[in-house]
Amino acid sequence: MNTFEIFQEIVTGRRSSKPSLMNGKKIDPASVQQLLELADWAPTHGRTEPWRFVVYSGESLKIFCQQHADLYKAHTDADKFTTAKYQGIIQNGEKISHLVLVYMKRQPTQKIPLIEEIAATAAAVEHILLGAHALGIATLWSTGAMTHHESMKNMLGLADDDLVMGLLYLGYTDETTADGKRNIPLSEKTTWHS
Ligand SMILES: Cc1cc2nc3c(=O)[nH]c(=O)nc-3n(C[C@H](O)[C@H](O)[C@H](O)COP(=O)(O)O)c2cc1C
Repeated sequence: MNTFEIFQEIVTGRRSSKPSLMNGKKIDPASVQQLLELADWAPTHGRTEPWRFVVYSGESLKIFCQQHADLYKAHTDADKFTTAKYQGIIQNGEKISHLVLVYMKRQPTQKIPLIEEIAATAAAVEHILLGAHALGIATLWSTGAMTHHESMKNMLGLADDDLVMGLLYLGYTDETTADGKRNIPLSEKTTWHS
């Protein structure tokens, strides 16, 4: 395979994996560090480098998942709250190896438009997902439960203008990877002018 074909395999072969189906096997922290180093090479307008990472594993992972579940309980109306979801948030932490919480740090000057800072941070996330796939690590980019809730930002001590971009669940899985699926043909998403 040439370089493009290898890259193509990594991009098209990457799939989201449910944390509940991960097998509890631990990732070498050096590999997680390598993924963060890939993320750090995302493009960044004005060189603001807005991506920030909080990495949880071991005991801290258990504590984070419990706190996340408790936020869900505290801020969800009784008619919408389910014990299954509460337990699921906690149990996800038992099946994964690391959780990388990614947030966008807004520059005080706000010189760069918000959308571009979000875009740069999303690019950093994609670097992690692709690098993980290349290392055989299963991932899920999740924005579920309280990810975008004000209480999550408060718990993390983030500034008002910062944005939590997602929780990246990292681990290993024994499940066979589902086939990739895209619903809208690329031709419908593309306009060529020549
Ligand atoms: C910003 C963002 C947030 C996402 N949040 C969730 C989520 O909360 N739960 C989930 O199961 N998948 C989540 N996903 C993953 C998508 O479900 C997944 O990418 C999609 O089903 C396509 O599958 P693939 O990643 O295997 O190609 C998210 C993806 C993105 C880009």
